[in-house]
Amino acid sequence: MIEFNPVSEASAPGKIILFGEHAVVYGRPAIAAPVSQIRAIATVTHSSSNNCYLVAPDLNRHDRLQDLPDDDALARAAWLVLGVAGLTQPPDVTIRVRSQIPIASGMGSGAAIAAAIIRALAQHLNRPDLQTNEQVSALTYEVEKIHHGTPSGIDNTVVAYEQPIWFVRQSPKNLIEPFKVAAPLRFVVADTGVRSSTKVAVGDVRRQYNQQPAKFARIFDECGRIAQVARQAIKAGNVEKVGQLMTDNHAWLQKMTVSSPELDKLVDAALQAGALGAKLSGAGRGGNMLALVADEAMERQVSTALQQAGATNILTTILK
Ligand code: PMV
Repeated sequence: MIEFNPVSEASAPGKIILFGEHAVVYGRPAIAAPVSQIRAIATVTHSSSNNCYLVAPDLNRHDRLQDLPDDDALARAAWLVLGVAGLTQPPDVTIRVRSQIPIASGMGSGAAIAAAIIRALAQHLNRPDLQTNEQVSALTYEVEKIHHGTPSGIDNTVVAYEQPIWFVRQSPKNLIEPFKVAAPLRFVVADTGVRSSTKVAVGDVRRQYNQQPAKFARIFDECGRIAQVARQAIKAGNVEKVGQLMTDNHAWLQKMTVSSPELDKLVDAALQAGALGAKLSGAGRGGNMLALVADEAMERQVSTALQQAGATNILTTILK
């Protein structure tokens, strides 16, 4: 007889990719970090209705878990936990999800929502073994496959571990190295307001790679090399170098065709306003970009420039 927790709540952060998006799908190293001030939150409460409901007010959703299709990401997250816990029937609960992370904008919203549901449900079922970072990451990865097709695993890892990570997709086990920064890195994160599907962007890169393997392998190599150098610069506290490498990474992402006029406009505006470096973050074609700034004064200048250049939302996050 399982002893259920009457009310369980869990959350997971948004994320940014500092270096190596797309190339990471092809085994090159990448660096990502959580953005802890924007989160997805899931609560699981007992329901007297003899049913399991999945409710997401922001998405206008209120459904019975059993009525949802197989490819529904929220439902998949719940079924995965129930499956691993050995339950064939869902418990009588309401799973409620809220998220402050913008959807389809390169900030890992899908992974964070899945991770929050997985943690909250595992907590409800009194299964600490299903709440470890490794387990939450592994289950979130299964959900990510619905969004992404061929996810590298970086999003689920960073939202589950909630630490800056050095990540390499490899078998049999991905390389995951949480790290500390030597000097704080202050990022301005700006949204183009353009929503973009990660699956489409990743699929387009795959098509181009298949058509021009040598050209794209070289682009991925360059991104991997930049990530390697960036890791050393982060370790050494060389903030200016980190900025320069971000701008270099953006140029390679442009060659991959995953930037967009809106992203380029924000990147240029940030650099002209004095940012140490700037690049798109995540799948691209829309979504968010990052600018690295040295201090609060530069942050204000860059934020104003980004606003004037059309950013629809701006936030600051400091990695320390
Ligand atoms: O758009 P996002 O935040 O989901 O980032 C995807 C990162 C990619 O490298 C483009 C894909 C992946 O699976 O790593």
